[in-house]
Amino acid sequence: MTTLPPDLAQRVVRWQGHSGRHDLPWQGTRDAYRVWLSEVMLQQTQVATVLAYYPRFVARFADVRALAAAPFDDVLALWSGLGYYSRARNLQRCAQVVVAEHGGEFPRSAQALARLPGIGRSTAAAIAAFCFGERAAVLDGNVRRVLARVLGFERDLARADGERALWQLAQTLLPAREVDVYTQGLMDLGATVCLARAPHCAACPLAEVCVAYRKGRPLAYPVKLRRSARSRRSHALLWLTRGGRCWLARRPEQGVWAGLWSLPEFATAAALEDVVRGWPGNGHWLEPLEHALTHFDWTLQPLRWQLPARSPPPDLCALGAGRWFTRDAALSLGLPAPVRRWLQTSSLPTPARRATVQPTTTFLSRR
Ligand code: ADE
Repeated sequence: MTTLPPDLAQRVVRWQGHSGRHDLPWQGTRDAYRVWLSEVMLQQTQVATVLAYYPRFVARFADVRALAAAPFDDVLALWSGLGYYSRARNLQRCAQVVVAEHGGEFPRSAQALARLPGIGRSTAAAIAAFCFGERAAVLDGNVRRVLARVLGFERDLARADGERALWQLAQTLLPAREVDVYTQGLMDLGATVCLARAPHCAACPLAEVCVAYRKGRPLAYPVKLRRSARSRRSHALLWLTRGGRCWLARRPEQGVWAGLWSLPEFATAAALEDVVRGWPGNGHWLEPLEHALTHFDWTLQPLRWQLPARSPPPDLCALGAGRWFTRDAALSLGLPAPVRRWLQTSSLPTPARRATVQPTTTFLSRR
């Protein structure tokens, strides 16, 4: 049986007033469009990163109707680098549903908000609390850690029943008033004091009532018994250029980097070498890049291949649906972050200097 400190909410609200964050660009408004946008951007993404994206996004899409009506590529281009691209897809779908089914106004309850695309229970609660003052509990990663520690919550949060129990406690802890300040306070505590690996317990307004602190074991919470193993994947990418343009392919709607433009992907280096064997021009392997995603580590190995502009291009049907882009046009698209970095750091070759055709065997060297 978990005992709840009676003054927990009061402590959080008071602390938020003097030590919480008040100047984030999505604060100081009850405009559900802006709050929703910030909460979706902040899902699995740090405030520092979102600060660079949010102002550009609201400058380009001032309201939910502008976002709903925009070409998806424009949305992706501004989202590019934030990761989790299904979020961008759901973001626009949600805007379209709000316009089509709710007359352009976000619903005002957490329950109705949670029925919209890309809005989970915690995000719905955050919007409802910040914009409409609803007593709805958030439980994102930071808040989950704060509550698990302060309550000394021993159950396994990787299990649905453990998670359900913590939601219930979170709901019970909500104050009768100032639920917006309380919610922001919990988020701020999690982000600035009750840190995952190095909590500043001396600065915490909850230390006096915190079970994990009393036991001297803050790092033991949240308890997570069933860990999912990270897997590893590896792919080869073709970075193909011709006459100042590069070839990009649209990624499938499902899976990693869904819907983004990217370099064509191959299961193995050998499969890619089979495709380019006999092509005019020259190529070399670049250093492999290690890219960490939520559920797996990904090794990406790009083959840089430059086709001479003066000879006709080879048959590119093995590359699937794609097309040529100038470097500037490519950089204006929604691109995966590593691909953007590769394109940014390269100067595309000028055809005159690179038109020589070399024998395939010598230029498939690994660097
Ligand atoms: N993380 C999720 N929502 C947040 C918010 N409103 N402010 C700061 N960090 C957050």
